Amino acid sequence: MTITVNTISVETGDARALRTALGRFATGVTIVTTRCPSGKLVGLTANSFSSVSLDPPLVLWSLRRNAASLQSFTGSRSFVVNVLAADQEALSNRFAKPSADKFEGLDYTVGLNGCPVLRDTLACFECRLETEIEGGDHLIFLGRVERASYREGVPLIFAGGSYCRPVQLEASA
Ligand SMILES: Cc1cc2nc3c(=O)[nH]c(=O)nc-3n(C[C@H](O)[C@H](O)[C@H](O)COP(=O)(O)O)c2cc1C
Repeated sequence: MTITVNTISVETGDARALRTALGRFATGVTIVTTRCPSGKLVGLTANSFSSVSLDPPLVLWSLRRNAASLQSFTGSRSFVVNVLAADQEALSNRFAKPSADKFEGLDYTVGLNGCPVLRDTLACFECRLETEIEGGDHLIFLGRVERASYREGVPLIFAGGSYCRPVQLEASA
């Protein structure tokens, strides 16, 4: 079998190749939500979520600086990370494109600080914003988890620009 290794010159700004390389790192899929001071509910699909620390409980995610929802998140002191299950691809697509009201007709509860908590997700982290960190063309939100929940189920995976479902490997002897 021949394996082709693609080397990328980052200096020449081959953004597409860099994106392809980064896409080799599989992630889960989340919808991060918040409530603006005006009461408007805002949310977007994000796979930049990562756990940071257990003690204290800290998580992060990053938002594109030119996203329509940027001001809503910088203007709010809290956010909720809703982790999607394998059958929630349609929900992911709904929150991955601009819309006047992404929550219309959607089932959610009101969580801490008034932020929307989506129903039937695999896990949920209700966070208080600790700090915002400059991250180039993204803004990184570091949050302290104030409440968390989870259920049994299979996570939705995003890898190589596509949605996937995980396959459990047999334990090696
Ligand atoms: C699987 C997936 C993961 C995404 N992850 C992020 C992310 O981590 N940060 C981000 O800014 N946009 C991410 N996006 C794109 C946003 O969901 C999309 O730009 C959305 O329209 C932003 O919401 P807004 O237009 O209401 O600001 C992702 C999209 C998909 C499909």
